[in-house]
Amino acid sequence: MNRQEAYKLMEEMVKSPNLRKHAMAVEAIMRSLCGFLKERLASKGVPFEPEEFDEEEWGIVGLLHDADYELVEKDPKRHTLVTEEKLRPLGVSERIINGIKAHHEGIKEGRDNFLEKAVYAADELSGLITAVALVRPDKKLSSVTVESVMKKFPEKSFAAGAKREQILACEKELDIPLAEFVKIGLEAMQGISEKLGL
Ligand SMILES: [Fe+2]
Repeated sequence: MNRQEAYKLMEEMVKSPNLRKHAMAVEAIMRSLCGFLKERLASKGVPFEPEEFDEEEWGIVGLLHDADYELVEKDPKRHTLVTEEKLRPLGVSERIINGIKAHHEGIKEGRDNFLEKAVYAADELSGLITAVALVRPDKKLSSVTVESVMKKFPEKSFAAGAKREQILACEKELDIPLAEFVKIGLEAMQGISEKLGL
């Protein structure tokens, strides 16, 4: 599956404009994280399998992670499983399917690789950054700074749906300090701000 096919499927399955934007936001963050983590390993001289860091694949996981969200509304326990059913006959890689399943707690036991850990944390980060943009006077991502996101991070009542514990998987599971993780996510989203309408 390539990016174009994944995008088409996402559009077929997701009708809400906001959920489509969320898919694109997580795609952008995933692509940036892939590059960041790959470079970090390379700069430290740590050996890794190049297949582990395929930006397009990471992006596809971001694009499709919530694809069945509207379809499982009445049965949230099936979240990600309907997407799996759609992807399997298309011959989509296990890495992509597992990545999608790993972002949703209670489906797949544990997060086994960088991709799975990244989508888990990126999902909630995108929600927090969007919420911070929406309280700026111009509601623009260009007015959001790393500091403004960090300031809102401990405020539990702000964007309560953006689970802070899940975002903190960046530190616990990816060894990326929170502020750096916010910077990666913010810049990735700013790069597609027009598409996100923010
Ligand atoms: Fe999501």
